Amino acid sequence: MNRRELAIAFALFLTVIGSGGFIAAYATGGNTLYEGLGLGGAALGLCLAALGWAFWILPAEQVVDEIVTYPSPHDQRVAADLAIERGIEKISRPRLLLAMLGGALACFGAALLVPLRSLGPKLGDTLFHTAWRNGSVVVRDDGTPVKVSDLEVDSALLVFPHDAVEDAASQVTLVRVTESEAPQTHGYIAYSRVCTHAGCPVALYRAPDRQLLCPCHQSLFNVLADGAVVSGPADRALPRLPLVVGDDGVLRATGDFSSPVGPGFWEETGG
Ligand code: FES
Repeated sequence: MNRRELAIAFALFLTVIGSGGFIAAYATGGNTLYEGLGLGGAALGLCLAALGWAFWILPAEQVVDEIVTYPSPHDQRVAADLAIERGIEKISRPRLLLAMLGGALACFGAALLVPLRSLGPKLGDTLFHTAWRNGSVVVRDDGTPVKVSDLEVDSALLVFPHDAVEDAASQVTLVRVTESEAPQTHGYIAYSRVCTHAGCPVALYRAPDRQLLCPCHQSLFNVLADGAVVSGPADRALPRLPLVVGDDGVLRATGDFSSPVGPGFWEETGG
């Protein structure tokens, strides 16, 4: 190898070292300084190698190509192939340098692909389900179970599943109406607290009208009609949570909500 080839080989080696350094820094905790130095060194090495290759190895011929038709005429393509071959013939150790070029590009590509790991796990169908399932105990935000005797008629309470207290997607407004209005559940009815318009908490219960009110844009939902929209910008009923009262008097869910909670993005994606 002559000195120019050695310089190119050194630049390619720098790319290998830089890429490896970046991957090592990323894998050991992601120190941004070392990651930047590694990736910067790798890119610098590749640039220097490309410049050296262009100036020292490729033949310094001026080619004038009048672009009239595309692709280039056959004789021009043959001439270009010959020029590249002549350039490679000038290298004393072409295989070694080409192998190093391939290795450096592979390492640099790997360094660019490694951060894809930071994209996190797949969402799957998690946006379509909450933590509520058959048997989930209805609890207050302090974790205490709600019993059938706890709420007065005309009152409302923020509740969660026992194993996901304060989970935003699983928050529920539990209301108590009269036994005759909800005989199956001793007067208890539960709806998602996440507004189907833009996701605000539907936190206000207007007991005389049996309506839930979202304070953000004043959507009103009918508690006795499966959460149907009475008025306001929401165009979808509040998802209802199916309830049962156990033998011990504790309220439990019998499954997830009747439909996905929150604003209906899936209706536009066909989900
Ligand atoms: S977010 Fe509830 S009405 Fe707009």
